[in-house]
Amino acid sequence: MTDTVYVLNGPNLNLLGLREPEIYGNTTLDEIAGMLEDEGREHGLAIDMRQTNHEGMLVDWLHEAQAENARAVLLNAAAFTHTSIALLDAIKAIKTPVIEVHLSDPKTREAFRHISYVGMAAAKTVEGHGAQSYSIALQAVASGEV
Ligand code: DQA
Repeated sequence: MTDTVYVLNGPNLNLLGLREPEIYGNTTLDEIAGMLEDEGREHGLAIDMRQTNHEGMLVDWLHEAQAENARAVLLNAAAFTHTSIALLDAIKAIKTPVIEVHLSDPKTREAFRHISYVGMAAAKTVEGHGAQSYSIALQAVASGEV
């Protein structure tokens, strides 16, 4: 197994910082990447941060994480969380542990966000802590919890 943690981000998260800041905060995805790289370094973990607006790309990257022996995946699948059986199946198909991450707490929002296909297969879910949700998830990898 390598020391690389894949951090995969789904649709609209490229607009983080600009997009509905009252819900998602002012921190950009690049800033989150920098924060995770610093924190990862302290624990000997390398961060491979990616974003796509395409569902199939996330499926391909999950397969790649296993093929490349990644330590773990932090996955913020954004809206695909609530719709994608393909992502659920991909998480089940790989042995690499996947932690579900959300900035907001979808369970306290609209009813259509209450179902999480990703959460049905994820090793752990961290949500509702803004950008810190990613750090908390990385801590779970660093501590060996996941
Ligand atoms: C999100 C929550 C999702 O419901 C939403 O579709 C997103 C972002 C979050 O990080 O809070 O795009 O995953």
